[in-house]
Amino acid sequence: MVASVDWTRVDESTTSFSMKVRDSGMPAQIYWESLFDIGRVLDGLGIDNRIADAVEVGCGYGTFTLPVAQRIKGTLHAFDIDAEMIEITRQRALAAGFQNLQLARRDVLADGFGLPVASVDAVLLFNILHTEEPIELLRVAANSLAPRGRVLAIHWRSDVQTPRGPDLSIRPRPEQIIEWGKAVGLRAAPAELLLPWHFGLVLSRDDSISN
Ligand SMILES: C[S@@+](CC[C@H](N)C(=O)[O-])C[C@H]1O[C@@H](n2cnc3c(N)ncnc32)[C@H](O)[C@@H]1O
Repeated sequence: MVASVDWTRVDESTTSFSMKVRDSGMPAQIYWESLFDIGRVLDGLGIDNRIADAVEVGCGYGTFTLPVAQRIKGTLHAFDIDAEMIEITRQRALAAGFQNLQLARRDVLADGFGLPVASVDAVLLFNILHTEEPIELLRVAANSLAPRGRVLAIHWRSDVQTPRGPDLSIRPRPEQIIEWGKAVGLRAAPAELLLPWHFGLVLSRDDSISN
């Protein structure tokens, strides 16, 4: 049974101008997916069945979408501005029989998540914070977090040569993301290396830190 899966939803409510993140085109899927140790990334960020509902911004090929949906106990809302990426992810999810995935083509920079405030336990920002609007994206993410929710970010390292990733001039370092997070009321745990090519950050709402 796949009753809870909205396979066909394509969100057409986006504005007419596109705010696609700069330098966010994708190489071939097999190559892209050879660049990550997916289990290590998800373990490093604490993605498990204590998370109920979550959002993934810019799901791409679904590289992380399916493994995340498999781990969490709630629904994963995965968005991408590119209809082809949504379709590829949709086909993969269909083949795997996932029941807890909501896929939608959506420009999150122009239109946000379209979800109630304070409604999700996690927002995944994977390889996307080189956007021209990182603080705005983090603000949308922070607003959608339930108390004790987390923003989970990964990005390409700048301290080693990497086989992919945006130009170093626009590639955010951990300390930069931490500062952006502070600007929207998010506090970060120390960055973690997600070898070989990435770092990971867990950011919490300020008001949930001491609880
Ligand atoms: C570099 S890829 C990363 C894909 C995936 N997060 C991963 O790490 O495998 C960035 C993705 O974000 C999508 N994207 C770019 N701008 C977007 C926007 N404004 N709203 C939603 N998705 C966007 C792109 O289409 C692309 O699929």
